[in-house]
Amino acid sequence: MIQSRSILECRELFFHFDDTQPVLDNINLRLNSGELVVLTGPNGSGKTVLMKHLNGLLRPVRGDVFLNGRPLPRRGQEAVRAVGLVFQNPVAQFLEDTVERDVAFGPRNMQLGAAEVNARVEDALQATELQHLHTRDPLELSGGEQQRLALAGVLAMQSEFVILDEPFAHLDLPGVRSVLRAVLAARDRGVGVVVVTHDLEKVLAHTDRLVVMRAGQIVIDDTPEQALPLVEHHLVRRPAGEISHMSWL
Ligand SMILES: Nc1ncnc2c1ncn2[C@@H]1O[C@H](COP(=O)(O)OP(=O)(O)O)[C@@H](O)[C@H]1O
Ligand SMILES: [Mg+2]
Repeated sequence: MIQSRSILECRELFFHFDDTQPVLDNINLRLNSGELVVLTGPNGSGKTVLMKHLNGLLRPVRGDVFLNGRPLPRRGQEAVRAVGLVFQNPVAQFLEDTVERDVAFGPRNMQLGAAEVNARVEDALQATELQHLHTRDPLELSGGEQQRLALAGVLAMQSEFVILDEPFAHLDLPGVRSVLRAVLAARDRGVGVVVVTHDLEKVLAHTDRLVVMRAGQIVIDDTPEQALPLVEHHLVRRPAGEISHMSWL
């Protein structure tokens, strides 16, 4: 359980790769612990690049990212611990040869005692419904199980925020359901969660805010009710029906 209330904030963030074409163009965004935010937008709008800024994996050309009012630590470790990223294909993130050891990797590196490491691993595996897979090889898990394993690693480090990039892509209904349950469990523990997705109909019912990016800018940041009527204008499909039904749970 995350005790404190945390804020992760981007202020006037600008970024480009070598070709100087702006990829992030004045991003201002505030994320709160315990909140579930959906980040969407057409391909190439800068979602993945933004997420990499939120834990210091990429550094802005201008502007800064603040965690609880302080710029993200320049030295990687601390930022990585506070803000976890789960990539679309998390295989490259797995560092150990069993589920259990992989989840333990983060807490073990934090110099915690064995009992605390074990308690955190058990707790994280339970929250992500992976208890039955303790000794399995991460590379042999299904897509949904791999998403949940990456999330379990973040939970075990007691990160304050986690950002998942397209976590539902290529998953079947049970896969989406189990990832969604794990995402909501993280949120209920007080973690600030960002789900990057095109599939609004799978998650929007559970969402506090909908953020839409286009061409490196945030063009919408509002409640789902306010935001939804505007999304197709920004090339994001608006699902039919009521927001309260937009869940694959
Ligand atoms: N490593 C890179 N080098 C150069 N350009 C990149 C690189 N990664 C992403 N881009 C460009 O940055 C823009 C935003 O990409 P990205 O954040 O991946 O978009 P999204 O996740 O919204 O689909 C795109 O125009 C993409 O081509
Ligand atoms: Mg992307």
